[in-house]
Amino acid sequence: MTREIIIAPSILAADFARLGDEVAAIDRAGADWIHCDVMDGHFVPNISFGADVIKAIRLVTKKIFDVHLMIAPTDPYLEAFAEAGADVITVHAEAGPHLDRSLQAIRALGRKAGVSLCPATPESVIEYVLDRLDLVLVMTVNPGFGGQAFLTSQIPKIRRVRAMIGDRPIRLQVDGGITRQNAAAVVEAGADTLVAGSAVFGGNTAAEYANNIAGLRLATKTGRLPS
Ligand code: DX5
Ligand code: ZN
Repeated sequence: MTREIIIAPSILAADFARLGDEVAAIDRAGADWIHCDVMDGHFVPNISFGADVIKAIRLVTKKIFDVHLMIAPTDPYLEAFAEAGADVITVHAEAGPHLDRSLQAIRALGRKAGVSLCPATPESVIEYVLDRLDLVLVMTVNPGFGGQAFLTSQIPKIRRVRAMIGDRPIRLQVDGGITRQNAAAVVEAGADTLVAGSAVFGGNTAAEYANNIAGLRLATKTGRLPS
């Protein structure tokens, strides 16, 4: 099955001093979704930003807001992220004991529900919640930081998750170390939604963002490196 490829730049790699302008710039540059990495210094060893920041930048674009929660617990904060303007809310399977409940809560708020799997987490954790999912995120680095190297160990997991999804309308997202060099491999394994931080914002020059996004998109189609 051929699915439209979604490119979702992670604003974790943006210049935070000019965050609104950066979001506007990736919107103009052809981003499909805006990927927001929320980190709590507890579930992951880093702290980024929360619902108030998302609410503020929500005003500068109409693109889909894809909110990746790397926080534990998640349930007490879901409503705040929904109200801030998240369209997709993704929680980590490892963040709490009641994944099924968290996914129900996200859909009850009228938002798309995603689950993210750390590199060491087997895909079997989603077996009994598949019908509550709009997105599965296979982490291709250990969550917490941008700019890490892609873990090739996750390619078989992407393939297995794709098989589990079958014909359900569930997006298969990859996040971490995605570049023009590996974009074709993850798409070939079954990914259809690519998060990229460093590969889009590298250099922090807005003029380059369109070229970076187009390059990633082209790499997914051809498997070859665009010049
Ligand atoms: C990692 C985050 C990623 C990260 C991606 O915890 O979830 O979204 O920002 O950044 P790159 O593309 O630089 O690996
Ligand atoms: Zn992310």
